[in-house]
Amino acid sequence: MPKHHQKLPSAGAEREALRVKGQFWTPDWVAEAMVAYALSGGSKKIFDPAVGAGVFFKAAKTISAHRGINLKLVGREIDPLALEQAKENGLCEEDLSNISIADFVLEPPEDTLEAIVCNPPYIRHHRLSNELKAKLKKLCIDITGTTLDGRAGFHIYFLLRALQLLAKDGRLAFIMPADTCEGIFSSTLWKWITKTYKLDAVITFSPEASPFPGVDTNAVIFLIRNDKPTDNFLWARCLQAYTDELKAWIISDFQLPGESLLVHQRNLSEGLSTGFSRPPVETESDDPTLGEFARVMRGIATGANEFFFLTKNQAEEIGIPSKYLLPAIGRTRDVSGDVIDKKAVKALDAAGKPTLLFSLDNIPLNQLPKSLREYLKQGEELGLHKRSLISTRRPWYKMEVRPVPPFLFAYLGRRNARFIRNDAGVMPLTGFLCVYARNNSPQFINQLWTILRHPQTVSNLSLVGKSYGGGAIKVEPRSLERLRLPLELVLKSGIQYNKGTQTQLGVPTTSQLSLL
Ligand SMILES: C[S@@+](CC[C@H](N)C(=O)[O-])C[C@H]1O[C@@H](n2cnc3c(N)ncnc32)[C@H](O)[C@@H]1O
Repeated sequence: MPKHHQKLPSAGAEREALRVKGQFWTPDWVAEAMVAYALSGGSKKIFDPAVGAGVFFKAAKTISAHRGINLKLVGREIDPLALEQAKENGLCEEDLSNISIADFVLEPPEDTLEAIVCNPPYIRHHRLSNELKAKLKKLCIDITGTTLDGRAGFHIYFLLRALQLLAKDGRLAFIMPADTCEGIFSSTLWKWITKTYKLDAVITFSPEASPFPGVDTNAVIFLIRNDKPTDNFLWARCLQAYTDELKAWIISDFQLPGESLLVHQRNLSEGLSTGFSRPPVETESDDPTLGEFARVMRGIATGANEFFFLTKNQAEEIGIPSKYLLPAIGRTRDVSGDVIDKKAVKALDAAGKPTLLFSLDNIPLNQLPKSLREYLKQGEELGLHKRSLISTRRPWYKMEVRPVPPFLFAYLGRRNARFIRNDAGVMPLTGFLCVYARNNSPQFINQLWTILRHPQTVSNLSLVGKSYGGGAIKVEPRSLERLRLPLELVLKSGIQYNKGTQTQLGVPTTSQLSLL
């Protein structure tokens, strides 16, 4: 158990004293996940508006040490005693040297901020003085152009102030009590937030996974970006505490939910009317979802296709041994039908199209042949190792790994979105999604294919995807798992189907992927 956890008060009176100051510390497993999101835009500075015992600074140090980057820790705290506790928790004077002892809401920093992470003081409205309430009301009008119901607590104004200071493309992670999306004021608040910012994800916790066990607060994390709003957001329910899965999901750019996370892609207007702390309201249907038969994840992101995705000639000229090359497909326009086989890959080769992924693991440079060392040096000279995605890899040339999927899904292209049967055993890049059947037997794969290629299934895509001009649909991995497969097709295919009891064979889990 983290040290700060042991300091959680147990006696009522002690807890009451903390309530006045709003001092509850975030556990490490949650803090690291939140910091990972805030830093995912590449910021080299993290700002915590309510440092307290320094949990987020500690998490930021862990993450920056792991990534080998220098991170500046900046923050605010109103109570100097809390910072003493931060020192007891292992932070040094230098770590705390950029903290101002000041009120974040009433005396905010002057600069905009790229990465903000916060567990604000949960101070309910009846503990706020009338004078402070009047100031907060004015602040709210300045920021949102409107007022909120007087029952909004201090934490709500922390969020508003942080949003106001969030730089363009900046990211903010806030852990808040559920009243933030259930209170009488919440509808006005969230309409404004989601009309002004992009809500990337909302994370909720089952009672067993509560970040604050023993405290009567239902916590919700909001991950918000200062970018154009979109119609959908991800909603996750964390079912288990003290695991790395929440952090891993965020680091994978929300692609790899582990076993202990339930993830839904939700429509914003549904989320606003249902409430973000609650699971989605599904329309009743007897049709099973694709997720009952398969798991979906995005294709490989190389970070520099011009360097890692090569033609046969290029690979030969560079002198890449075949053990470091994987047959790959990168562009949806390179697959004309709904099957890709070896013949089609040969035709692409003959036409001089790239078909090979240069895929190294973390093998040290000195174990590689001279030709490859030189090629990697050229990559460094081009500054590839500094690109945002590539710079998160150790070493920078280490490629993502996936098992070969039996089906691909072309999720956005000039031709309509479609499933593709992968008879060539190619590795898809990010132009495609990987669809892994939950059972790898040839019979199951064939039966599933009859369902996936059927026009009725394809027409259901519009219910889970985002539509663009010209009939193109973009479908994210999680929403593709929610694609309804018409029950009559499922029954006709002969595929083994007992509602809710599908087997999980053949599907890589997060931990298996990290071992690959
Ligand atoms: C819920 S604690 C969170 C601390 C820490 N970030 C964490 O998650 O463990 C909130 C902190 O905000 C501080 N605080 C309260 N009012 C504040 C204000 N107006 N400006 C800055 N900090 C404030 C409290 O002293 C407390 O340490």
